[in-house]
Amino acid sequence: MSNTAQITVDGNTYDLPLTEGSEQEKAIDIGAFRAQSGVITLDRGFKNTGSCESGITFLDGEKGILRYRGYPIEQLADDSTFLEVAHLLIYGELPGKDVLTNFESDISRHTLVNEDIKKILDGFPSNAHPMGVLSSLITAQTAFYPLSLEPNRSQEENDLSIIRLIAKMPTFAAWAFKKKMGHPVVYPSNKLNYCGNFLQMMFALPSEDYEVDPIVEKALDKLLILHADHEQNCSTSTVRIVGSSQASLWASISAGVNALWGPLHGGANQAVIEMLENIKADGGDTKKWMGKAKDKDDPFRLMGFGHRVYKNFDPRAKIIKKAADDVLDALGVVDPILDVAKGLEEEALSDQYFVDRKLYPNVDFYSGIIYRALGIPTEMFTVMFALGRLPGWIAQWKEMREKGEPIGRPRQVYTGANERDYVSLSKR
Ligand code: CMC
Repeated sequence: MSNTAQITVDGNTYDLPLTEGSEQEKAIDIGAFRAQSGVITLDRGFKNTGSCESGITFLDGEKGILRYRGYPIEQLADDSTFLEVAHLLIYGELPGKDVLTNFESDISRHTLVNEDIKKILDGFPSNAHPMGVLSSLITAQTAFYPLSLEPNRSQEENDLSIIRLIAKMPTFAAWAFKKKMGHPVVYPSNKLNYCGNFLQMMFALPSEDYEVDPIVEKALDKLLILHADHEQNCSTSTVRIVGSSQASLWASISAGVNALWGPLHGGANQAVIEMLENIKADGGDTKKWMGKAKDKDDPFRLMGFGHRVYKNFDPRAKIIKKAADDVLDALGVVDPILDVAKGLEEEALSDQYFVDRKLYPNVDFYSGIIYRALGIPTEMFTVMFALGRLPGWIAQWKEMREKGEPIGRPRQVYTGANERDYVSLSKR
């Protein structure tokens, strides 16, 4: 294969280097193209633009493949733990026993947050969405760790920020929920593992004993693994682009949380449950709602369906669908919206509109049903996604900084007014 591509513009042909990844993905490197030709490439929504070379996650949307650092998601979801996966994503290799034990205990030692965080929390109204609270509390850490603002920190110093962030994220997430409930916050317990600690901070009350249910803990751990990274999606690209200005890890991750919040991205898990509840309350007529989703004059979309890169199936959705059945069975939960979800899926999979557009259930279609069964309220679903995605964001931020990537700065095709003279207010 030739290692160049040719582009002809206005009769002039330019040779552009081709680059190939370790899974034989090919790309035309257009970095120098504008300097040669004066022309830029336009790709709305970056549908066909690689923003970086990355060794973290491999995804083949046509074949439904997802691997973290080469390991298939199916194997990791079945056999590993979330913190093991976090280590794998961030540092590149599966940790040995001692390394993992140290990583886990380092994280346990940093779960507590400064007491002044409670004052910040107090300032929010009780109806604040937990995603807004979460991103604010993450950014607020820059005030408690001002040295983390220094862009050229040693690896050791960055590692400490990473540990602090992974350790404190469940505390922020659970406290955002307690705020919503108007309940006193629960302090972290370093005797519990990562998910167990999060669950007790979410659900323990001063008036009752709380014991972590191992089924719930295991199911949550699996969900976090499934969300842990997904290469250059909207929130991850946001983390990288914010980090490329040498903004701190806290600021970059907080930006990622905000990008994740939207209903077309991580907010879809909340939107799916709200949609399924609406369909059920409306009599459960799935055909009617399918019709709405297909009607171009109706803004309704089937939430939890479709994906920018998966055009066959989302491997995470396959695992989650099975996990939803297992978890509901194990917990003895009967959730009528599971039937609505399965009915919708069945219809969509045989509907020409969805088949033609290659729209399949994505990771968010069934995850909300599991979160519900675990007792996690709807408004917390996207926070759960953020908790899971954290190691991926960190790994991508770290990779970008270690490679010394340039500041992210797309170009544009200007379509506004041509030069015109200012007209003073009195003459307008
Ligand atoms: N319901 C109905 N029609 C849809 C849907 C849907 N969920 N998704 C895409 N389409 C149609 C869309 O109208 C378009 O039709 P046409 O070609 O006739 O104009 C075609 O399919 C292609 O859609 P698109 O919006 O150009 O595709 P995209 O790659 O820009 O968007 C998406 C991907 C995920 C934003 C979109 O499929 C969607 O809005 N899905 C619902 C929201 C959702 O579940 N998001 C979670 C994504 S997975 C979690 C994550 O990683 O963020």
